[in-house]
Amino acid sequence: MNKNFYITTPIYYPSAKPHMGHAYSSIIADFFARIKKIQGYKVFFLTGTDEHGLKIQRAAEKKGMDPKKFCDEISITFRDLSKILNLSNNDFIRTTEKRHFISVQHLWNILEKKNEIYLSKYSGWYSVSDEAFYSDDEVEDADGIKKSKLSGSNVEWVEEESYFFKLSKWQKPLLKFYDENPQFILPKSRKNEVVNFVESGLKDLSVSRKSFTWGIKVPSNEKHIIYVWLDALINYLSALNYPDYSNELYKNYWPASIHLIGKDILRFHAVYWPAFLMAADIPLPKRVYGHGWILSGEEKMSKSRGNILDPIEIIKKYGLDPLRYYLIKEVSFGNDGSISQEKLESSINSDLANNYGNLCQRVIAFNEKNFNLEIPKNISFNETDLKILNDFNDNFEKLIEYINIQDINSYMNFVVEKLFASNKYFNDEEPWNKKKDTKRLNTIIYVSLELIRKITILLYPIIPNSSLKVLNVFEIKEDQILFESIKNNNFLIEGKKIKKMEILFKKIDKND
Ligand code: ME8
Ligand code: MG
Repeated sequence: MNKNFYITTPIYYPSAKPHMGHAYSSIIADFFARIKKIQGYKVFFLTGTDEHGLKIQRAAEKKGMDPKKFCDEISITFRDLSKILNLSNNDFIRTTEKRHFISVQHLWNILEKKNEIYLSKYSGWYSVSDEAFYSDDEVEDADGIKKSKLSGSNVEWVEEESYFFKLSKWQKPLLKFYDENPQFILPKSRKNEVVNFVESGLKDLSVSRKSFTWGIKVPSNEKHIIYVWLDALINYLSALNYPDYSNELYKNYWPASIHLIGKDILRFHAVYWPAFLMAADIPLPKRVYGHGWILSGEEKMSKSRGNILDPIEIIKKYGLDPLRYYLIKEVSFGNDGSISQEKLESSINSDLANNYGNLCQRVIAFNEKNFNLEIPKNISFNETDLKILNDFNDNFEKLIEYINIQDINSYMNFVVEKLFASNKYFNDEEPWNKKKDTKRLNTIIYVSLELIRKITILLYPIIPNSSLKVLNVFEIKEDQILFESIKNNNFLIEGKKIKKMEILFKKIDKND
């Protein structure tokens, strides 16, 4: 079995500082990177910034800045955010780096050599905000302003000499590929969208621009700047040192396991990118997952709409793990969702403080008082104990499958169910009334500690900092966490000392 896992986020435009939508994609990608790591995979997790093109050039001009300087300043805020979000990313790529230029020009040369690119003239609509070409029927007139029907962004008319990629010739191979790889695009609704688009016919794609300078030049014709999406997509390869095929990164991690993206950029990843790769004879990524949007009211949160929520402010007020938990659990993965301080507070109180925090707190406090921070000895599981403990075992394959098809919602349902069940177990068993029956008392506390350990491992990819505080009670270090160990009902060593736990989550009091 291939035990390497390569996951990417989109590389974000550093046209303005990051917002909650960017944080969302990055946190979800981190969830998968961490969970695969504790499953024993070698993981490469990539994020970064997409710094060329007219959108960035204009944003820099607006500030009267040199585009590179402008990108330097904003790219750093994305890099800082990845630290604030506690991402486990292995690299942060910027498309203005030399390593990226080399890959892009190399791939361009291959496409040109293979006759996949020809010089002609483009006339049509272009959205600078999306860096996308739109056909007539994708454009509408809104009070005299031409807009994309798909994204709602303004389009402008462009007429210039341009190189074209022979996208039309890849229509059939693409459809065949989607058919043979039914899980290439997830969720399913997104796949249908893409298939319909490709079935309706593909026109050759303009892949260079002449009317501005901020980008990577076409090697054979320096008047042309390579289309920023062709440039940007190649980041997934340049971070692996493509075209050095014999280097470890490329050998281990290409093709990518999953490109995690928002549904706004599905067409680029599920149509153009595989077509470019097919044309260049490079293996295709295994999956493109297009998640939904974080909404602000009814609308997509975006810098161009100016309705953004700053993740850093939320983290300052509530802490990182509550935000990560909220985004992973409360936004139904695959669909659009929203975040408000009120909903976040209620999730902190009900799930984190009252449910998980309470379970850990009361069991460990009980242990401290009655067992002097020692794991109970002389235990013997009864049927009730085995039933709740074995639930992890019995559902193990299912959990693995959820992860493999990115069904975060089912995974989270399982975790929350186990949290409720574990609190209920502790209540129902009433260890405080069992002080005369040592064997039973010991067993109840042992089982409760095992349940905490198992649930905490399941929660680690979601709330890594808090989970590590709990695992520290059992002296389990981050690099020792094994997903598989949730199957073990006797992981904890009888008689061994445990440590006190740091405070996990503070309940939010409305009157504070
Ligand atoms: O499109 N909800 O960059 P971008 C959820 N540079 N996710 C959101 C979001 C929201 N409201 N807003 C943004 C680009 N995102 C290109 C990508 S990749 C080779 C090049 C996330 O800065 C989501 O992942 O516009 C979306 O696809 C991405 O940020 C777009 O970021
Ligand atoms: Mg965008």
